[in-house]
Amino acid sequence: MNFHIMTLFPEMIEQGLSTSILGRARDKGLIDFEAVNIRDYSGDLKHHKVDDYTYGGGAGMLMQAQPIYDCYKAIEAGIGDRKSRVIYVTPQGSVFTQQMAADFAKEDDLIFLCGHYEGVDERVLEEIVTDYVSIGDYVLTGGELPAMVMIDAISRLVPGVLNNDESAMTESFGNGLLEYPQYSRPEEWMGKKVPAILLSGDHKKVDEWRLEQSLLRTKERRPELYEKWIIENPPKPKKKRNNK
Ligand code: ADE
Repeated sequence: MNFHIMTLFPEMIEQGLSTSILGRARDKGLIDFEAVNIRDYSGDLKHHKVDDYTYGGGAGMLMQAQPIYDCYKAIEAGIGDRKSRVIYVTPQGSVFTQQMAADFAKEDDLIFLCGHYEGVDERVLEEIVTDYVSIGDYVLTGGELPAMVMIDAISRLVPGVLNNDESAMTESFGNGLLEYPQYSRPEEWMGKKVPAILLSGDHKKVDEWRLEQSLLRTKERRPELYEKWIIENPPKPKKKRNNK
């Protein structure tokens, strides 16, 4: 998976994505990032300006269409024949979910556009963007952090990035529920004991307990996810005993 990030702050992306699991995955060649500076495509060779005032008035500056478009064209030319999805990270987009991460993880290349200032000239968005995505209903100062959030969530679904394939499957949202509580040594800490069932060695009972805990936790913390899960997984009718 190759991530191409159009940004005014490439060093922020490079630093943010080069450590820990993503850094290791990059070293292994499983994923790659290319942070491309939009400023390098400014038509203003003296000051490398990329923003200007908004027609119709209003506070703040807008990112201009041409540098973004030229930056996109350069990335597209580097990718070759394949048409890539272009994600504009914006609070005006659909809210990012685990399902969207899984969907994006199937692509070979993804292009991100990180906005700044008051926004981006609409015409270039119409021309290049395929997906408008937000990370939540709050406003950040720029698109770099949201892009990194999405890249992290997508990368860990790329096969081989996580050591233990299972961890991507069983954790929160993998089955539409929040993850169950987990415990490590010691068996007792600050007077709190690890639930006995986890020490029993009975895998079936452990699985049942974990599902029950996931349901309880989801009901309490994310009731809307719980309702959805219940509708999609109605309790199985109990088999009637044949008394004849
Ligand atoms: N840019 C600024 N705020 C954002 C958000 N919440 N999601 C995506 N991009 C953003």
